[in-house]
Amino acid sequence: MIELVESWAREAGEIIKQRASEGFDVSEKTARDDLVTNVDKEIQAFLFAKIKETYPDDSIMGEEAEEGENAKIDMKKGRVWVVDPIDGTINFVLQNRDYAVMIATLTNGVPTLGLVYDVVENELFSGGPGYGVRLNGEQYEPTKKLPLNIEDGLVGHHAYMFSRDIDQVMTKTKHSLGTRIIGSAGIVLNKMIKGELAAYISNLSPWDYLPGSTILHELGYDFAKIDGGELDFHERAKVIIASPKSIEEFING
Ligand code: IPD
Ligand code: CA
Ligand code: CA
Repeated sequence: MIELVESWAREAGEIIKQRASEGFDVSEKTARDDLVTNVDKEIQAFLFAKIKETYPDDSIMGEEAEEGENAKIDMKKGRVWVVDPIDGTINFVLQNRDYAVMIATLTNGVPTLGLVYDVVENELFSGGPGYGVRLNGEQYEPTKKLPLNIEDGLVGHHAYMFSRDIDQVMTKTKHSLGTRIIGSAGIVLNKMIKGELAAYISNLSPWDYLPGSTILHELGYDFAKIDGGELDFHERAKVIIASPKSIEEFING
């Protein structure tokens, strides 16, 4: 299954590159800085169609789904696909880089597959239980000993939360080696896979954190709500993705 999903993501990447060269329409969703393009919608429709055609009994959640559709899905029942057609839409629109196609699956509420495709850099990470980690279709071996702890590396943050020290995200990560704010959860998590960042703390929807976190779990990382509560995979939540030691220290420290 993983190879098939990788091939869909690559096809999606080709469509995105084509549209980027032709031009596309941008519109606002909830605010001036909450953008969507016709490409986000086209890619979601493309991936939904592939999933429905191949696995008609599965459920599908997507960032650009019709109002109310995501809420109807029981995340604990059967296989659920979670799709973010373009993660980092603002980067896509303004920079034409640092965006990703992302897909995850849950099976009876347990993450089973994650995929993050950095289209511009041509880096497609995928993996999950039974798959290990793959980069561009080959088994991936990290070059550094992972997981890193917060004190040993850089932390990816959410600009709004970091600048206001919401829930002490700045104070509680002062012992890191520095901060990076990138604008795409997927690109941040790919950097964690490569050992370039040690942790990520942000306010995220399931389609933002599940694809990368499922891959990172294979490398010894974990993910949790920053208040220690249970993640339901339905709602947006403030999450930390880090080593189990750093998560424990962040929540209880
Ligand atoms: C966003 C990006 C961003 C994160 C936001 C997400 P989108 O995804 O991942 O880095 O801070 O919370 O919503 O809207 O570009 O797919
Ligand atoms: Ca996203
Ligand atoms: Ca998106």
